[in-house]
Amino acid sequence: MTEAILLVGGKGTRLRPLTVHTPKPMVPAAGVPFLTHQLARARAAGVEHIVLATSYLAEVFEPYFGDGSSLGLHIEYVTEVEPLGTGGAIRNVASRLHSAPDDPVLIFNGDILTGLDIKALVATHQSSGADVSLHLTCVEDPRAYGLVPTDASGRVQAFLEKPQTPEEIVTDQINAGAYVFRRSTIDTIPAGRPVSVERETFPELLAAGAHLQGMVDSTYWLDLGTPQAFVRGSADLVLGRAPSPAVPGRRGDSLVLPSASVAPDAKLTGGTVVGEDAVIGAGARLSGSAVLAGAVVEPGAVVTDSLIGARAQVGARSVLTGVVVGDGASVGPDNELREGVRVWCDARIPAGAVRFSSDQ
Ligand code: GDD
Ligand code: MG
Repeated sequence: MTEAILLVGGKGTRLRPLTVHTPKPMVPAAGVPFLTHQLARARAAGVEHIVLATSYLAEVFEPYFGDGSSLGLHIEYVTEVEPLGTGGAIRNVASRLHSAPDDPVLIFNGDILTGLDIKALVATHQSSGADVSLHLTCVEDPRAYGLVPTDASGRVQAFLEKPQTPEEIVTDQINAGAYVFRRSTIDTIPAGRPVSVERETFPELLAAGAHLQGMVDSTYWLDLGTPQAFVRGSADLVLGRAPSPAVPGRRGDSLVLPSASVAPDAKLTGGTVVGEDAVIGAGARLSGSAVLAGAVVEPGAVVTDSLIGARAQVGARSVLTGVVVGDGASVGPDNELREGVRVWCDARIPAGAVRFSSDQ
């Protein structure tokens, strides 16, 4: 049975303030910590043993997932004292693996929502005899990712992490953040110091003549590294566009957790999720948004493509579009907040303080 490593130690800087108190994989998407979806999908593909490589806010994972048995998994936790980077994190957990030297080991970035056929990636790895196999996907703007040109047989020719110059943009095919490593290849990563698998390990393996194989799978794929992407991913899980066995309820226009309270005439659409103990007031309209545990959206508020943090408050008649409200923050009544605004945790915006339009 293939075992897996999940990389969950990043600081999630681009997601702040969502990641001030919570590591990125533990931010709820469609009602459960995002990582739950990845774990459940790995389990559904036959994975039983998973090692979590943690660093930033490492202490919150184990109390939530325990030994993994509630998901049918055996989960182990390894914490880096100093962040070791993606490659260093992989090398650092090698001693926990049970696989034989030639066995395949799955490795996942901890912030990817995808319909990848995990078994097909392992099968491709086995049939090609590669040292490392990578899930590749095509994106419109590849600059924020690792570029992975391949030859006609899918063999990787180069790995260019976050290209800086136009000449480096040689393909729209990118590293989708799921790998299969030959167990023994993991041991070639230097131990005890930070290593980037993207900037160091992959280029060095290629230079040394190793066989890296790409598998393009054009299924649903999203890196949840930014607030906009995170909210989109949560909504796509609720709507059923992104597959996960871990969504706590039926797919549809909205998902309301049992302890939440939603006024009868409030309108929830576009994959909106209302978390535990959250309250949605009369006449509020929410679309494509995520309301985390204990948050309150007051009557008449209009919330679109936004994330409302735990215990945060959105005042009556306020209009939020493409906004993140941090945990415990309060947006007073009659505000208008638009694309890209990040209200910091516990901040207070008074009534009628922020507007975009000139109307009353
Ligand atoms: N344990 C540990 N230690 N994990 C880490 C560390 C670390 O020091 N640094 C990052 N990670 C984890 C993050 O938590 C995340 O799950 C994963 O490694 C990737 O880090 P990101 O910070 O999300 O990287 P990225 O999104 O900029 O780029 C990566 O993903 C792209 C696809 O989404 C790269 O792998 C790119 O090549 C790839 O295209
Ligand atoms: Mg990422």
